[in-house]
Amino acid sequence: MNKTRLAIFASGTGSNAVNIMDYFQKHPAIEVACVLSNRANAPVLEKAKTRLIKTCVLSNEEAENASILINLTTQFEIDYVILAGYLRLIPAEFILKFNRKIFNIHPSLLPKYGGKGMFGDHVHRAVLQSDEKETGITIHYVDPAFDEGEIIDQFKCDLVENETVESIRLKINSLELAHFPAVIERTILQKQ
Ligand code: GAR
Repeated sequence: MNKTRLAIFASGTGSNAVNIMDYFQKHPAIEVACVLSNRANAPVLEKAKTRLIKTCVLSNEEAENASILINLTTQFEIDYVILAGYLRLIPAEFILKFNRKIFNIHPSLLPKYGGKGMFGDHVHRAVLQSDEKETGITIHYVDPAFDEGEIIDQFKCDLVENETVESIRLKINSLELAHFPAVIERTILQKQ
C-alpha cells in the first residue's frame, strides 16, 4: 500500500516541522514527502535536507498563488498539508482542493487570540497582558479566514504568577511537540 504523503509548510525555526519529520520517519502508513518555505534562509530547510527530505522555497508572492501550490503538491503527490509555523495566507482555491486536508497549529486556545497578526510571541504577549489563568494550543482545519477553520483538538496548560512571554512560549512549545504529530496521525488514519 502506498503511504499517505505529507507536505509541511513552515516559515521559521521549524521545531514542529522537525518533530513531525522524526515522528513519521519510520511510520508504516504516513511519510513526509517535502518541506516548503517562503523564506530561503529558514532553518527548517537545512533540517529537512539532513533528513533527506525534499525542500522547496517560494517567494511570498508565489506562496499566495493557488496554481503554483497546486502544481507543486501534484508534482510531489501530496495528500495532506501541515502548516507548522507557516505565516502566509493560503489561497482559497488551494484550500478548496485540499478540503479538510490542511491542518494548522496555533499557539492559543482559539477562538481566543487568533486572526491576522496573531502569531508566535504576539499571541503569548496578548495572553500575558490579559491575565489569563490558562492558555494552550489548537490544531484545526484551514479555511479561507485566518484561524477560523473547524477545531480538531486543543490542549491546555496552566499559567502561574510571574509568567513571561518566554515562559509561555516554552510551555506552548512543549505542548505542541507532545501532541501535534499524534493528532495528525490519528486524524489521517480515521479518514482511511
Ligand atoms: C508555533 O508555536 C506555532 O504554533 C506558531 O508558530 C510557532 C512555530 O514554531 N504558529 C502561529 O503562530 C500561526 N498563527 P516552530 O517554527 O518552532 O515550529
